[in-house]
Amino acid sequence: MKFNSRTHTCGELRESNIDEHVVLNGWVDTRRDLGGVIFIDLRDRYGITQVVFEPNYNLEAHNIAKDLRSEYVISIEGRVRMRPEGTENPQLPTGSIDVMVDRLVILNKAVTPPFPLKDGVDINEDLRLKYRFLDLRRPSLQRNLLLRHKIYQVARKYLDENSFVEIETPVLMKSTPEGARDYLVPSRLHKGKFYALPQSPQQYKQLLMVSGMDRYFQIVKCFRDEDLRADRQPEFTQIDMELSFVDQEDIFQIVEGLMKSFYKEIKNYDLPTPIRRIPFDEAMETYGSDKPDLRFDLKMTTLNDVLSKSTFRVYQDAISKGGIVTSLVAPGCGDYTRNQLDVLTDFVKKLGASGLVWIRVKEEGLESPTVKFLTEEEQKGIIEKLNAKPGDLLFILSGQKLKTLSIMGSLRLEMARRLELIKPDAEPALLWVTDFPLLEWDVETQRYYAMHHPFTSPRIEDIELMTTDPGKVKARAYDLVLNGSEIAGGSIRIHDSELQSLMFKTIGISDEEAEYKFGFLMNAFKYGAPPHGGIAFGLDRMAMIFAGEASIREVMAFPKTASATSLMDDAPSTVSEDQLKELHIKIR
Ligand code: AMO
Repeated sequence: MKFNSRTHTCGELRESNIDEHVVLNGWVDTRRDLGGVIFIDLRDRYGITQVVFEPNYNLEAHNIAKDLRSEYVISIEGRVRMRPEGTENPQLPTGSIDVMVDRLVILNKAVTPPFPLKDGVDINEDLRLKYRFLDLRRPSLQRNLLLRHKIYQVARKYLDENSFVEIETPVLMKSTPEGARDYLVPSRLHKGKFYALPQSPQQYKQLLMVSGMDRYFQIVKCFRDEDLRADRQPEFTQIDMELSFVDQEDIFQIVEGLMKSFYKEIKNYDLPTPIRRIPFDEAMETYGSDKPDLRFDLKMTTLNDVLSKSTFRVYQDAISKGGIVTSLVAPGCGDYTRNQLDVLTDFVKKLGASGLVWIRVKEEGLESPTVKFLTEEEQKGIIEKLNAKPGDLLFILSGQKLKTLSIMGSLRLEMARRLELIKPDAEPALLWVTDFPLLEWDVETQRYYAMHHPFTSPRIEDIELMTTDPGKVKARAYDLVLNGSEIAGGSIRIHDSELQSLMFKTIGISDEEAEYKFGFLMNAFKYGAPPHGGIAFGLDRMAMIFAGEASIREVMAFPKTASATSLMDDAPSTVSEDQLKELHIKIR
């Protein structure tokens, strides 16, 4: 039957519309049959409006309404009326009116959904992902998609106003694996050859700087075949930026302006700037993480100086081998039971610690099975340095520096969780982590890797160290951290081909390999490359935090599972023999 298109959405009608004749289109959210009178909550993405079928008002519409079930798609026409006194619903923006229906058209029937399309119901996530198109009808996911939309719009407006040019870069590119594994696409026309999907547009955006584009941005899909976690997906979205003739300060200023816009437009919050900065070394020593969560205080303290003369072999060993003894005070936890302490010991052991030293602080001094290994002076030194109070619990870990700090950092987060230190209404804790090491030593392969990527510039004053002590070189790299999550990362790039060669040499990439993998970039740099740098936001992660969600899947329309499958369309899937043949591929 012919239907008329809507005059209003289901979230729109108010008292000011009383007596108007309206047309609404939408889905049947709920249906109540109250002895002859049928009430339907009609839903679309704008809201819900109650519509009423009364036999005395319109018998035909009432008769058809008897067949309505959840999720049927309908069109109604009728008159807006004030809801009878006592039946208003203050929870709904449309709650003071309803619509008396005099015409109903069923546009489409629906089978019963496999789960309730409501928030606050515990539904198996696999089922949700299989029926994602229905899951997306739930209000929380609709809100999240709208929030994402808002992020795109704010970013585009701000960057446009700041002279950035939006440029698309190829999705089929050359494979240059560094960091994660590439997703490969076989070429039909070139037997045995492959394209790769970009892990990021890094090289293209640097080439655009050589082209003189000066300020580039792109909201872009990136693909990484890596192990997935709650904040990682195989394809995810970056707000990617690159700027010419800049140093770190210029980039911080632009990004801080962008963050201010996000907070103002999305949360109506005036973000204070400048954003705090913490060098990597300090972040590691104080918080045990390169993305510290600063919504709570709880600081770690290095005890190497207090224990420098310790005769306790464990500490002696750690300190003499250039390692670290680090500690954490858990305020008021001095009465933890042995069982609780065993659980925490297991927690750090699972992360690779050999054990956990715990010490109760009493009025009369320190108490622990390991206290006997500490001199009076050392005990006093510890209490003083940590400003420990009776009733506190101290944790000490020792060993190889970064590993030990990072385990203590995890314990710090665990204690914050146990002590409920993160308040739901905490102010956003934003910070820059700066001065990352340029290189990371890999014990397995016995070589250095670029900690960020191989185009990141060392600090100018550290260039000499690249040949003498590469592990000490700091990079002009920075991450933006929000509530303990890395939401953006970038660096000032090497724009000089000689320095770039030195970098490749330091990370064990031969001239031939560099030429084969990155020749086009190196070649471009010979034609007048401006000094440049940039940054990329993990848009999904930022949206996740803004939405208060615990997984980035909640802010993506069609995410993949932890094993990188799409339960809805069954990707990845097998393909036909013919397709394989055309691609010159044989499955073993
Ligand atoms: P990086 O690799 O640090 O830098 O990535 C930038 C940001 O992207 C987000 N991110 C992810 N989000 C979801 N799933 C993933 N698998 C994933 N991997 C990364 C993070 C991260 O901070 N080309 C450089 C940027 C530059 O130097 O300008 C790059 O890609 O929030």
